[in-house]
Amino acid sequence: MFLQSLSLQYFKNYEKAEVSFCDHFNCLVGLNGSGKTNILDSIYYLSTTKSAFHALDSQSIQHDGQYFVINGQISLSKKEHKIHCSLKRNSRKTFKVDDSEYDKLSEHVGKFPIVLIAPNDDELIRESNEVRRRFFDSIISQYDSEYLKLLIRYNHYLKQRNALLKKMAESGRVDKVMLETYKTPMVNDSAEIAMKRRSFIQEFLPHFQNNYDRIADKKERVEIVYNTKALSADFGKQFADNIQRDIQSQRTGLGIHRDEYIFEIDGFPIKKYGSQGQQKSLLISLKLAQFGFVKSHLKITPILMLDDIFDKLDDGRIDRLMSIIGSKEFGQVFLTDAREERTRSLLSEKFEPMKIFRVEENMITELD
Ligand SMILES: Nc1ncnc2c1ncn2[C@@H]1O[C@H](COP(=O)(O)OP(=O)(O)OP(=O)(O)O)[C@@H](O)[C@H]1O
Ligand SMILES: [Mg+2]
Repeated sequence: MFLQSLSLQYFKNYEKAEVSFCDHFNCLVGLNGSGKTNILDSIYYLSTTKSAFHALDSQSIQHDGQYFVINGQISLSKKEHKIHCSLKRNSRKTFKVDDSEYDKLSEHVGKFPIVLIAPNDDELIRESNEVRRRFFDSIISQYDSEYLKLLIRYNHYLKQRNALLKKMAESGRVDKVMLETYKTPMVNDSAEIAMKRRSFIQEFLPHFQNNYDRIADKKERVEIVYNTKALSADFGKQFADNIQRDIQSQRTGLGIHRDEYIFEIDGFPIKKYGSQGQQKSLLISLKLAQFGFVKSHLKITPILMLDDIFDKLDDGRIDRLMSIIGSKEFGQVFLTDAREERTRSLLSEKFEPMKIFRVEENMITELD
C-alpha cells in the first residue's frame, strides 16, 4: 500500500500544497517549525480519520481559515482509492473513501493502516498504565473485532457501576442488590479480555524483543510484563469482597481497567532505570513490532512514518535502525529530519526508489 499524492488546503501551516510521493522512501527535511510533522499528521488523518497529536480537529484548520481539506490518492492491491477528509469551522468532519461516506468513522480503522513513530511516543513510558492499555487495545482491536466489542461492553458496565456508586454516596443510600447485578458480567468480561490481552502479549513479545535486539545489538534485554488480577482463580470473590472499598472510594477498584503493562530492561522498570537512548530504542522497537504485527494480521503492509527519530540514539543504533528500515519488510516510508546533511549521509542505494523534499516557507518542494 502506498500514498501516491497528497493535497492540502488550509491545513495548519499550509494554505495550499500538492505533492506526489514515491512508493518507497520519502524524506522531508527542513528547519524546526517548517511543517514536516504537519505533513505526517495530514497523512495520519487519511489513515485514522484523526490527528495523531490533538483531540480537537478544529486545531488543524489554519489560523484565520474557515476550513481544511486533505485529499489523498492511495494505491492498495493495485487499485487506487481517493480519500477525502475535510472540516468546516463549527461543523461535522466529512470523511469519504471513493466519494462515499461511512455510517461510523470507526469502520475506516484498519483499511489503510499506518504506524507513526514520533517524539511524543515517550508518553508510553512516562504516563500511567491507561496510555499503555489504550495503545495495546488499539492494536488488538484492529484484528479482533470481538475484543473491541467486549471492551466497549465492559466500559459501559464500568461507567454505569461508577455512576451508581457516586449516586449512592450522594444519596447516602447503599443499594447492594443493584451493585450485585454488575458482578457476574464484569467478572466474566474481565476474564475474557485479560485472556486475550495475555495471549496477545505472548505473541507480540518476540516481535518486540527481536526488534530491540537488532537496534541495541543485544546489549540489554527488554520485557513487557502484563499484570492482571482478572485471571486469578478467586477473582469473583475478590471483586465481591472489594464492595465496601468501592462504596467508600465511589469507584470500581478491581477489573481489567486496572491492568498494568510494565516495560523492563534487564529486569528493572525502564521508566526509572533506562537511559534516554534505551527508552527511545524501546519505543521504536515497540512501534516496529506493531508494524510487523498489523502487517501479518491484516495482510497489508502499513505505511511507516518516522518523525525525528534520530535524536538520542548513538551512531551504531542509528545505523542498525536504518538497515532495518531499508529491508524488504517495509513498503512506503516517510522520514522527517531537521538536519538535511545527516539524512543525506544515511541514505544509500538500498533506499531506492527515494525522494527528498525540502519543507520551507509553508511549501514543500522536491529536491534532486
Ligand atoms: N492551525 C494552524 N494554523 C497555522 N499554523 C499552524 C497551525 N498549527 C500549527 N501551525 C504551525 O505549524 C508549525 C509547526 O509545524 P511542524 O510541527 O510540522 O514543524 P516541524 O517541521 O515538524 O518542526 P520540528 O523540526 O521542530 O519538529 C508551527 O510554526 C505552527 O505555528
Ligand atoms: Mg516535527
